[in-house]
Amino acid sequence: MNKKIKKILNKKNRSKLVSLTAYSKNIAKILDKHCDIILVGDSMANVLYGLKNTHTIELKNIIQHTQSVRQGVKNALLVVDMPKGTYKNSNIAKRNAKKIMKVSKCDAVKIESNNKNFNIIKNLVKAKIPVMGHIGFTPQFSSKFKVQGVTKAESKKLLNEAMLIEKAGAFSIVLECIESKSAKKITKRLTIPTIGIGSSKYCDGQILVTDDMLGLSGFYPKFVKKFINLSALIEKAVKKYTTEVKLNSFPSKKNILNGTRN
Ligand code: KIV
Repeated sequence: MNKKIKKILNKKNRSKLVSLTAYSKNIAKILDKHCDIILVGDSMANVLYGLKNTHTIELKNIIQHTQSVRQGVKNALLVVDMPKGTYKNSNIAKRNAKKIMKVSKCDAVKIESNNKNFNIIKNLVKAKIPVMGHIGFTPQFSSKFKVQGVTKAESKKLLNEAMLIEKAGAFSIVLECIESKSAKKITKRLTIPTIGIGSSKYCDGQILVTDDMLGLSGFYPKFVKKFINLSALIEKAVKKYTTEVKLNSFPSKKNILNGTRN
């Protein structure tokens, strides 16, 4: 088993797993100092490409961004989202996951559950491709945002789904927007770590979309905490630059190339 994955599994019930998304090298380099897992999420569809959902992001986009992220990641486990339609059956999934792993040099792939694709996970794992599962609100399969696992029946169904994903061989599982009692129950029951987003503090770790927690994306549902307002900071710098350009105080002598190597 990949050493980094072993390390992730060992943290269950010991220390919380820290995870964030990245789509490019410079951000990934900063995250890598602090995160256990860095995810190249298909959320790039909304965040980077301004698309209304994640459905049309292509494999080539995901691979290209992962190649950039890979350059900034040395320590964290690098996980890549398989885009919608790229894991329709085991053969298609294997072909695409192998391509992602080979070209981008990532450590694992993530696939969203539709409560039916357990065999796909099983066959990927059999082909030595580490898989992270994803249940609850799964944007590739559900268009309407809703908290999951609220009723007893829903909660039972989610627990069963999580257990089948673990049985299929996944090394961890994202719980997205799952009611806290239900997330707690799943986390207690599984031996693999759960990574929550909008699913309470009871998960083994947390993930957020980096642009959301930095205050860059403009998407701030209740479960997102803005840890900084980077939009405002960037605007402040851009305003300063604009003023200096207009006043002709930038570039100053300090910023002029004078023919020497500097
Ligand atoms: O695409 C993504 O960024 C994700 C996280 C929200 C878990 O799947």
